[in-house]
Amino acid sequence: MWASRAFGVHTVPAPADTAPTGSRLPPFPEGWYFVASRRELARRGLIARQWMGLDVVAWADDQGRPCVAESYCPHLGAYLGPDGGGAICDGRLVCPFHGFEFDTTGQCVATPYAPAPRSAALRVFDTREVLGMVFAWWGLDGRPPQWHIPAQNLEQQGWCEIDIRTLRFPGHPQETTENAVDIAHLRYVHGYGSVAQAEPIEIDGAALHSRFRFKSDRRLGPLPYASLDVTAAASVYGLGFSYVEIREHNLGLDSRMWILATPLDGEQIDLAIASQVRELTLPRSIAWPLNIIPRRRRTTLLNRFLNYLQQRDVQQDVTIWSRKQHRHRPRLCRSDGEISKYRAYCAQFYPAQHAQPASGEDGSGSVRVAAA
Ligand code: FES
Ligand SMILES: [Fe+2]
Repeated sequence: MWASRAFGVHTVPAPADTAPTGSRLPPFPEGWYFVASRRELARRGLIARQWMGLDVVAWADDQGRPCVAESYCPHLGAYLGPDGGGAICDGRLVCPFHGFEFDTTGQCVATPYAPAPRSAALRVFDTREVLGMVFAWWGLDGRPPQWHIPAQNLEQQGWCEIDIRTLRFPGHPQETTENAVDIAHLRYVHGYGSVAQAEPIEIDGAALHSRFRFKSDRRLGPLPYASLDVTAAASVYGLGFSYVEIREHNLGLDSRMWILATPLDGEQIDLAIASQVRELTLPRSIAWPLNIIPRRRRTTLLNRFLNYLQQRDVQQDVTIWSRKQHRHRPRLCRSDGEISKYRAYCAQFYPAQHAQPASGEDGSGSVRVAAA
């Protein structure tokens, strides 16, 4: 089962036949990766987690400025997570070993017994917040952000609170994000019908946009089977941040979904799914049972229904993701052309490999589209 909201993670056991290491992607592509929600920071004060092969801590100061930092003290190396005794006091992270205090720039600003050494600073990561979700930048050799995820000042009036659920499994963010352009899998993995790419994918630097349509017969909770007619517009900003606007035409239901893949240790990833739906102000005939539920409650229920559908779909994807090998040279058919564009787009997130010819299974590093 999925964990409720953002406060827990459901771990999917690694399958016995997990892909061998011979055909692997570099585990930590450059980009912005989710760390925690603002709600979780407020609730827990200090958070420790694995992130991009590191142990990191995250907290926010009294002005609400978040900090994501490596979790070992620059003084004598104590672990700073809450289970090691690290604590937040007046917005500063206090080391459990000798009491050095760090502000959200990472600088040591006080000690209990001597002036703070100027050279004592935590390794911190640039942060960016989108709708209460805190991301940090992972740059090649520590280089600063090369691009940004958009601020997304999306209208919240009439939308339910964003709900976040996280799934953990062996995987890679390039593989999970590839599903945004792999339209064919919607039919074969998820059983959708009338699947079509609405227009060619667009790539603009670190942004990739993909629009597609599909139909699906689904049972929505207590409702009778509904025939869903869906248009989805996916915007990908690097391999850790995908945003999908979804319009269901028969119910008139608008929803938003964020798919946030974060590498943990080079093997496992956390896939956080955040979602919200808009109030159904004019339910159409097919949604008549919803009319007896107060509107606010109805919106929350709809988001749960949506999460239920996403949960089922993502579990189907995880079965594939957690067992697959990466193919540097996939043998594509002609209608898989968008995958070639996606692979070319991804190269920018491996700048070290991009500087030299990439090596595929046969050393060519290219994507091949097979003749039909
Ligand atoms: S190790 Fe952190 S204050 Fe000494
Ligand atoms: Fe999928």
